[in-house]
Amino acid sequence: MKKTIIAPSILSANFSNLERDVKMLESIGADWVHIDVMDGHFVPNITIGAGVVKALRKTTKLFFDVHLMIANPEKYWLDFKKAGTGLIVFHQEVLTDKKKLIKDIKDSGIKVGVSIKPKTSIEEVENLLPYVDLVLVMTVEPGFGGQFFMEDMVPKIKGLRKIINEKKYNCLIEVDGGINAQTGKICIDAGADALVSGSYIFSAKNPAEAIKSLFI
Ligand code: DX5
Ligand code: ZN
Repeated sequence: MKKTIIAPSILSANFSNLERDVKMLESIGADWVHIDVMDGHFVPNITIGAGVVKALRKTTKLFFDVHLMIANPEKYWLDFKKAGTGLIVFHQEVLTDKKKLIKDIKDSGIKVGVSIKPKTSIEEVENLLPYVDLVLVMTVEPGFGGQFFMEDMVPKIKGLRKIINEKKYNCLIEVDGGINAQTGKICIDAGADALVSGSYIFSAKNPAEAIKSLFI
């Protein structure tokens, strides 16, 4: 069985010690770093800009997974690419021309993903699946770390797995929000390829054990 990709979210890291925390993630076997970018408009919170990503790029070799919870991804994605991001994930719910955005990001030589909020159905994102490298299923309302996993999102993971397998799309399924050892296992069983986890890893006494518990 292939190993689940673990993408710790630095939203729960110590923002005055990001370098230390990202290096810690690298040393304990994280696969990706999940970076939550919020604009105070698409979601009611403001977090990290491309300048911080650029500074972090110098501190680690880990792959950067940037989750853009912003209303205008077409305006800002290139800044994050230039800052050293390997994957840009935008939201299905934005009004942007999404097929053009996908093409622009892909043509720039990096990976692209699309995310769906809890109230967005898989039917609403299905038309984009042939073109993206990843689909991100939100299992909390985006905006904040430390929320409870919404178990009623699990059928969406299963539904996406079925479509992606049947149509043989080259698209990973990532899940984000309220992931711990127990909910992570539910997502893996439902067909997830990658798990984002913030507060569970960063509040653990032993973050290395927390990461291991996500894929055992
Ligand atoms: C929420 C973010 C998540 C969040 C996950 O808007 O997209 O990445 O940081 O944090 P936990 O694992 O604490 O739910
Ligand atoms: Zn996220």
